[in-house]
Parts: sequence; structure tokens; C-alpha cells
Amino acid sequence: MPSTRVSQELFARARSVIPGGVNSPVRAFRSVGGTPRFIAAAQGAHVLDVDGNRYVDYVGSWGPMILGHARPEIVAAAEEALRRGSSFGAPTEAEVELAEAIVEAVPGVDMVRCVSSGTEATMSAIRLARGVTQRPRILKFAGHYHGHADSLLASAGSGVATFGLPDSPGVTRGSAGDTLVAAWNDADAVRGAFAAAGETIAAVICEPVPGNMGVVPALPGFLELLRAITRDHGAVLILDEVMSGFRVARGGASEHYGVTADLVTLGKVIGGGYPLAAFGGRADIMRQLAPEGPVYQAGTLSGNPVAVAAGLTQLRLLDAEAYKGLEQRADRLRGGLLAAFAEAGVAVQIPAVASMFSVFFTSRPVHDFQVAKAADHGRYARFFNAMLARGHYFPPSGYEAIFVSLAHTTGDIDATIAAARELAPDLAD
Ligand SMILES: Cc1ncc(COP(=O)(O)O)c(C=O)c1O
Repeated sequence: MPSTRVSQELFARARSVIPGGVNSPVRAFRSVGGTPRFIAAAQGAHVLDVDGNRYVDYVGSWGPMILGHARPEIVAAAEEALRRGSSFGAPTEAEVELAEAIVEAVPGVDMVRCVSSGTEATMSAIRLARGVTQRPRILKFAGHYHGHADSLLASAGSGVATFGLPDSPGVTRGSAGDTLVAAWNDADAVRGAFAAAGETIAAVICEPVPGNMGVVPALPGFLELLRAITRDHGAVLILDEVMSGFRVARGGASEHYGVTADLVTLGKVIGGGYPLAAFGGRADIMRQLAPEGPVYQAGTLSGNPVAVAAGLTQLRLLDAEAYKGLEQRADRLRGGLLAAFAEAGVAVQIPAVASMFSVFFTSRPVHDFQVAKAADHGRYARFFNAMLARGHYFPPSGYEAIFVSLAHTTGDIDATIAAARELAPDLAD
């Protein structure tokens, strides 16, 4: 077992000055146990911790590092931008280029506004949808994560599509109560919500490739239903592509599934590892944003020049070949894991969309949050820790997507499969 002494010491120090010792909860390893690794550096497909342990990284900063860590072209672009000044609070040419690149790539996006996090992107898209429709309610899906804005931290009550309940102390019943929550892939619940309250629904928001309850693909026709029903009722369809954007295809899930939203939110990949996100969509909707329209939205660091330089460089490197390469790597890893578990008699589901996938220890096909929750997450924790001890860093929660990058070599992936094959018998009942 590799030493984690320095990580343990840092974690103890961190816990006295940072709640839980981390700046975002999943980093604390609560659902898998053990000490979070404090990272000293990362290069390509590998991260190095402060104890000198090296891991093949399948977290990829939760999605942004699609080309691997410290890709030289991105480092150079960020350094070059930094030397010209880190923030101006005024428009730059590179922001226009980034917006043009997004408009060209993502179906249905005519205009773009940059923000600094995915949370800001979804929060702003919802305000805009409410502003243009003059309606209060939104419909979201159980198990979908859209960042931590109040109205999106709503959980389902019992029943078909229910009024949301606050999912965290500090969220008022008022904020959560304007959020309707339905089960993912439940067409009847969506139809029922619109039949009961359609004239009050401003927007439907979903992760078109849900990755925050593990990867739980849309059933055939479900996204098309969301498109049609929102159109018929004058509501806005928001595809939250913070994770899937520029990941499952250059044009994200919109391109992959051929479903065109009214608004799309982006983050992660478009920032190249820097704090950059965006929302965009139909020109008539986007023109309602301040200063052109009445819906207020702003940000001191929005479109930050260093982040934009890094993100634009990453987007320029993501051509059709890149997506082919990503899918080949993901298919190889997924296939290897499936074979390793099958040989050991371990029941597993590994749902995938393009290069995104996740591991559920269950024999039931996973189509919604209920089934995802019923998977054996204790077994996932054992899998995670055994892989980590062998130098393979999977997401520290069974509710997260596994990300490969173009920096992963066949050798990296085969080493990960070999490690899984070695430990799989211990995961059998
Ligand atoms: C689909 C989706 N939307 C929104 C967010 C929030 O983004 P951020 O963490 O940048 O605020 C995330 C983050 O994981 C996400 O996966």
C-alpha cells in the first residue's frame, strides 16, 4: 500500500481551516472512505500526489481535461495571455472568437454569453427562460445536477412529477417550490406535469447525457419528447451540456442526438481547465439579456482572457479525429472492465454515451436515479480503493462519470484493465 502520510497531514491541516478539508464536497472521499490525495502536479494522463504516488487519472478534473493535463499548446496559450494582463473588465477579441467557435459547433446556438462556472451558466439560463416566458416554474429530473443555485437544489417528493423540496438547508421552500421534479426517462411524468401546469412552466432543464448520477442515458425518444412538449407549450428547453458539451461530440449531445435546444449551457471542456463556462442559444432569447434586453446578468471575471485563451486553444485541437480517438479509448477501457467483471462473476452495468461511461454494480439496467441509487455503492467503494492502491484514480463516488483523455495511451488503459482483472475476484460475492 503506497504511503499517504503527507496527504493525511495536509488533510488534517485543511480540516481546521476549510469545511471538510475541501473546496468541493466530492473531493473529500466521503462516499468511498480513506484519505483524499492532495495533488502536486499532473501531466498527460497522470496525476502525482504529494507523497510521490503516480496515478492513471480517470477524473480529468471532472471533465475539462479532455486532452490530458498540461497540454503544451494550452500552457503556452495561457502563459502568453497572462503576460498580456490577467483581466481587463473590458471586451477582448478572443471572447468573440470563442463565441464564434461555440456558435459554429453547437446546433441551435446563435449567441453566447460567457460566465465563470457551470453553476452560473445554468442559473443565468433559468433566469433568462423565466424572463422571456414570464412564467415561474422549471421542470428538472431527479439525479440531474446543474450546479448549486437554489432553485436547482430541489429533490423529488413522492409521486409522479412533484413540487421540489429543498435539497439543502438554506434553500427556501419558495425557491425549491417553483421547481418540478420528475424521474428521468419517465415520459408519463413529463406529460403529466405539462398537462397539470404547462402554462406555468418556463423551462425544462436536463443533462442530455446525465453524468451526475453516474451515466444514465436517455431512452430512445425521451429527448425528442422534451423537445416537442416544450415547443408545444411555449416553454424553453435548456440542455445542460456543462459535462457533455464538446465531450460526447464537438457539438455535444445536441449533435450526438440531433436534438436542438433553445438554450444550452457549457462549462468544463470549453475552459481547458480554467474557470470558464457559458450559456447560449436562440438569438431572440439571448437578445433579451442585458444590456440588449431587460434580463440582468453580469460578471467581473466573465470571459477572463487567460481562461478564454486556454479554452479556445483546447477547442481548436478538438477535431473529428479527436472524438474518434476518445471513443476508441473509452470503448477499450469499458470493454476490458466488462470482461474482467464477467470473468469474476461480478454483476455490473457500464452504461455509455460516446466516451462517457460509469460503473454500477448491479444486474439491473440503469434508467433512472432510483435504480442508480439501488446499485451496490459499497462495492464501488471497494473497487475504487483497490484501484487507487494499484495506481488508477477513478472518481471517488459511484455517481460520477469516468473520463478518458486523448493523453491516455493503450498502455495506460491496458494497465488499468489488468489491475481490474486482478482485483475483480475480491468483488465477487
Ligand atoms: C451537468 C452539470 N451542470 C452544471 C454543473 C456545475 O458546474 P460548476 O461546478 O462549474 O459550477 C456541473 C458540474 O459538475 C455539471 O456536471
